[in-house]
Amino acid sequence: GRVAVLLGGDSAEREVSLLSGEAVLQGLLGMGVDAFAIDAGKDLIDRLQSEKIDRVFNVLHGRGGEDGVLQGLLEYMGIPYTGSGVLASALAMDKVKTKLIWQQHGLPTPGFSALTVDTDFERLIAELESVVVKPSREGSSIGMSIVDDAVALENAFATASEYDADVMAEQRIVGPEFTVPFIGDQVLPAIQLQTTHQFYDYDAKYIADDTQYLCPAPLSEAKQIELEHICRQAFTTIGASGWGRIDVMQDDSGRFWLLELNTVPGMTSHSLVPISAKVAGLEFGDLVLKILDTSLE
Ligand code: DAL
Ligand code: MG
Repeated sequence: GRVAVLLGGDSAEREVSLLSGEAVLQGLLGMGVDAFAIDAGKDLIDRLQSEKIDRVFNVLHGRGGEDGVLQGLLEYMGIPYTGSGVLASALAMDKVKTKLIWQQHGLPTPGFSALTVDTDFERLIAELESVVVKPSREGSSIGMSIVDDAVALENAFATASEYDADVMAEQRIVGPEFTVPFIGDQVLPAIQLQTTHQFYDYDAKYIADDTQYLCPAPLSEAKQIELEHICRQAFTTIGASGWGRIDVMQDDSGRFWLLELNTVPGMTSHSLVPISAKVAGLEFGDLVLKILDTSLE
């Protein structure tokens, strides 16, 4: 049947989605799949109705496409789609809600505090020392900053507020970052990220050529098993399905801390899921077919 690759959209991650979507489209075409792209705009519902579509490969990142809204529409229209359903998508888009659920299940995630105009910034920085300020529902590190004094915290709050009414300050974990992809119920090899930037920011993700991706990650076997175990639980407790990617930090005592779950991970030439898949023996074409297959589960 015919596959519509949904890309673009109007979230802050539009540019990333255009690149991810184009890569997925080319991958599907290369495998002989009858696929075409739809840039998700105001006419999306018309296009979904008028074109003969059997399945959607969703590569929309961020608000509207990754947060349950699109998933609800596709459920309503009876069109199978890749990735998590309505609830898991909505939860995973919201970092604060995700962390609350992980905490509830005893999973390790850095401490955090919601920021509002009433927050005592001096006191918060005295307690947490160094924090990562994040819009709760955003991706690709957009609107994020790392701060360690009250003035910078207040500025970071203002910046993050441009992207979301919900902003949090998360305890900063200093150490290497890892990411763990899932395809169906298969865990792919973890990648350790090494950036020359202060953190793995937008530039380090998509522009810089000096970011290093260590895969398989240089972890002991015991640590690899521990990481995989934590991530599996993190994926399941949110109710995610199809595919996804979990981002994790490791502190200097070796403990892992869950940061977030991405239900529509990047698929650009710089992206992590394709790198890990390749190490697992899955070329890009095989990878997109495998993800497409999960739309029928
Ligand atoms: N939000 C970006 C696309 C990612 O997680 O890869
Ligand atoms: Mg994300």
